[in-house]
Amino acid sequence: MNLLKHVAIIMDGNGRWGIKKRKSRNHGHKQGLKTVELIIRESIKKRIRFLTLYAFSTENWKRPKKEISFLFKLLENFLVTKINDLSKKGIKLKFIGDTTIFSNKLKHIIFKSEKTTKNNKKLQINLALNYGSRNELMFAFKNVKKKKLKITENNINNNLFTNKIPEPDILIRTGNTYRLSNFLLWQIAYSEIFFVKKLWPEFNRKDFNRIIFKFKNIKRNFGRV
Ligand code: IPE
Ligand code: IPE
Ligand code: MG
Repeated sequence: MNLLKHVAIIMDGNGRWGIKKRKSRNHGHKQGLKTVELIIRESIKKRIRFLTLYAFSTENWKRPKKEISFLFKLLENFLVTKINDLSKKGIKLKFIGDTTIFSNKLKHIIFKSEKTTKNNKKLQINLALNYGSRNELMFAFKNVKKKKLKITENNINNNLFTNKIPEPDILIRTGNTYRLSNFLLWQIAYSEIFFVKKLWPEFNRKDFNRIIFKFKNIKRNFGRV
């Protein structure tokens, strides 16, 4: 049976869910956050150590202003109101992506969330915000060069946003879309990938557990026979 340490998720389909319910795309984002909370609880139950969630991509800036500001307000509000609860549950929060461009207010919230939870050991949540894999790799290569290091796999790994995080064992994408959308391209070289038809707000414990069960029984070769 495979050990499961790290699950990464492309949480896709919020907008379509909102529209399907005859409401707004933003209504879908709000409901999507409920699924996030559900999956966090389930991850702790299953003793998963790392959960990486794609919340906002470097390409998502192309969306309407109204949707972008709703998403960030939702996130800020979540962090401000829930950080102590999350911390009590033993959750460590880390942000991956280029956070340097955010408002001082959001930067401060991010800083505080990481600081408050930094010693927690149960589950580490990596929140991908303004994250793009190509952007991350570019940063990493630049840093390797600046430090006058050799281009090796280790040196590249150590300069990614995800340094010190093991590679994902499982990558899940909901929303009936079969692409990676610039997420963890380097890190998922040997991840088991699960595409799910359901939209993210519909994704539930049972779906999650079914994937975990399947994963545990996969023969992972890593090139061997
Ligand atoms: C959530 O799903 C992804 C985020 C950017 C938060 P979408 O907003 O992409 O939903 P669909 O794919 O348009 O339905
Ligand atoms: C990927 O979903 C980004 C997040 C889940 C945050 P998108 O909905 O932005 O991906 P594309 O644009 O359909 O590829
Ligand atoms: Mg989408």
